[in-house]
Amino acid sequence: MENKAAYLIAPNKPLSIEDAPLPHLEADQVLIRNHALAINPLDYKQQDTGVLIEKYPHIMGEDIAGTVVDVGSSVTTLKKGDRVAAIALHIVTKNSANAGFQLYTALPAGIPSRIPDEMSFHDAVVLPLGLTTAANALFSPEYLCIDPPSASGPIPTNKNKAVLIWGGSGSVGSCAIQLCAAAGLTVLTTVSPRNFEYAKAIGATEAFDYNDSAIVEEITKAAHGKAVIGVYDAIASKTSLAACVSFLQAVGGGKISHTSVYPEGLEIPEGVAVVAGQPSLKGPDGGLPIWRQVWMDFMGLGLKNGKLKAKPDAYVLKGGFGD
Ligand SMILES: NC(=O)c1ccc[n+]([C@@H]2O[C@H](COP(=O)([O-])OP(=O)(O)OC[C@H]3O[C@@H](n4cnc5c(N)ncnc54)[C@H](OP(=O)(O)O)[C@@H]3O)[C@@H](O)[C@H]2O)c1
Repeated sequence: MENKAAYLIAPNKPLSIEDAPLPHLEADQVLIRNHALAINPLDYKQQDTGVLIEKYPHIMGEDIAGTVVDVGSSVTTLKKGDRVAAIALHIVTKNSANAGFQLYTALPAGIPSRIPDEMSFHDAVVLPLGLTTAANALFSPEYLCIDPPSASGPIPTNKNKAVLIWGGSGSVGSCAIQLCAAAGLTVLTTVSPRNFEYAKAIGATEAFDYNDSAIVEEITKAAHGKAVIGVYDAIASKTSLAACVSFLQAVGGGKISHTSVYPEGLEIPEGVAVVAGQPSLKGPDGGLPIWRQVWMDFMGLGLKNGKLKAKPDAYVLKGGFGD
């Protein structure tokens, strides 16, 4: 097995494809031969600015899908030949063996999840960090603390509870809509008008144009009579956060969760809380983080029974990293 990686040699440079060491496999890890890699916003932000990069050359890449080709001596949960999707962990571990933009990635066996046989790697690779981020922001006790959905059984009736997903057509927003729809909630979302039907097809109850000047009034009207259990701002711009704050003020207050850099200069009124953060590898009690439970309990079966779809559709760049 010979490895190649797409190296970033300095900030704001094109990637350079070079031979790379085959990642060393620890006893509790699996080695994945990557077949599809997604370009995540974190990748282009890293490439442009060098954020979170400690030294060059650096291998980026957060989202991978491929086949397990080797397993460490203590691994019992995955075997050679399993088709998996995973978040690459190098942002946390700072170890290039765990990075995505290479032919082979080594990861702790608890991180990848199996994907259905009929699902292509291109489809599966749209999910990993988007699903992780959305699950963390919606279900973690320190964020919106919504009850996670179950992949088996009927969808519960929670339509009297509403959640707002600001920016429902992107990678993270699409996962957030689907997770909240599977939890049975009334899901209000903002997208461009061209994505109204898309948002409803993946589970939104109502979709609103975020460029409409009356958007806050419109969403407030739609939420009337329901208990608003929170807002997930998947965009987290100054404008989106300001609108989310106004919405929560109109419905009596509540919590906004987001997963980006906090825009400066936004005043948060009493009764509204803004929480932000990235998924961590451990839950607050030191156990499994909630996103990991969603991966284990919801993702595989949800993809099989249609409660979760690999959305938005992958835009496939042919020719690989060399092109
Ligand atoms: N993807 C991840 O795994 C991940 C993880 C952690 C954090 N984040 C952060 O989360 C944010 C979203 O990432 P993403 O990957 O989901 O992005 P994305 O897939 O590129 O989503 C882009 C979509 O966002 C919508 N949008 C843009 N501006 C908007 C606005 N002002 N209000 C509402 N919708 C707007 C647009 O939808 P329309 O076409 O409908 O206009 C656009 O198509 C970024 O800041 C990213 O850095 C992403």
